[in-house]
Amino acid sequence: MTVTHALDNAPNAQATIIDGKAFAETLRKDVAIGARAFREKRGRAPGLAVVLVGSDPASQVYVRTKMKNALESGIDSFPHLLERDTSETQLLSLIDKLNNDRYVHGILVQLPLPEHIDESKVIAAIDPAKDVDGFHPVNVGLLGQGRAKLIPCTPLGCLMMLKDQLGDLGGKKAVIVGRSNIVGKPMANLLLQENCTVTIVHSRTRDLNNECRQADILVVAIGRAEFIDATAIKPGAIVVDVGINRVEKNGAPLLVGDVDFNSARNVAAAITPVPGGVGPMTVACLMKNTLAAAEAIESDAAVRF
Ligand code: GUN
Repeated sequence: MTVTHALDNAPNAQATIIDGKAFAETLRKDVAIGARAFREKRGRAPGLAVVLVGSDPASQVYVRTKMKNALESGIDSFPHLLERDTSETQLLSLIDKLNNDRYVHGILVQLPLPEHIDESKVIAAIDPAKDVDGFHPVNVGLLGQGRAKLIPCTPLGCLMMLKDQLGDLGGKKAVIVGRSNIVGKPMANLLLQENCTVTIVHSRTRDLNNECRQADILVVAIGRAEFIDATAIKPGAIVVDVGINRVEKNGAPLLVGDVDFNSARNVAAAITPVPGGVGPMTVACLMKNTLAAAEAIESDAAVRF
């Protein structure tokens, strides 16, 4: 990957567009090399179980993308597509089966789950060694202590792109917009570990734009279409847009991020587009985590409780 020294850009120059799709392609190729070596040594490929409950169209697209990526990365995928009225007990019993299946090294339960199922109970039932989402409380705790084994895929993908742009992140001021368990909180922990000065802002933050304007690194994961524009961005900042929002513009459906791209690109030094930025990296990082989980499990280095 090419490293561009984005903070050197003059203000008002058009931002470098960070090509997450190309970055993900490179990462998938690296994973495929590792997966081939794993198969040669162990006689079977790393295996990923993907569980979807119900037929939410967006979730179906995500699951299909994950299975296609697995194939391209030399990872076996095992889909479990369950009816929306699947009970919590039935789902927990499937998780138990997958925990004990030696062909399965990673378990991904697509979120959100239907309302009658307790999401945190399901996440806690996954073997932490197979928790390729990094959502199990054990993996969350290890990340908080700076001893992470499996890191949530979206923040991991964001971090890889940031390091590619900036090299050492030490001393940079990072502001994260959004405090979710999936992105905001793990992103904060990762950037803290990279010696950034980290602030999380959210819906109740006072003068959110002013906080954002202090950021050398701005990661936006608030789930609101085009919520952040140029007025919240420091000239020369790196902007990572995690949002994927389906909107309608001029009567046509359109995917937009949480950042107003056309406004932000006039101020930022570099920015991830939507689509083609964080999204592909999230899926590629899932493959990276599956390979890492497989190697750790088979060499007995996995987290055990
Ligand atoms: N739904 C939205 N993002 C994610 C993710 O990263 N993992 C899972 N399992 N479900 C999601």
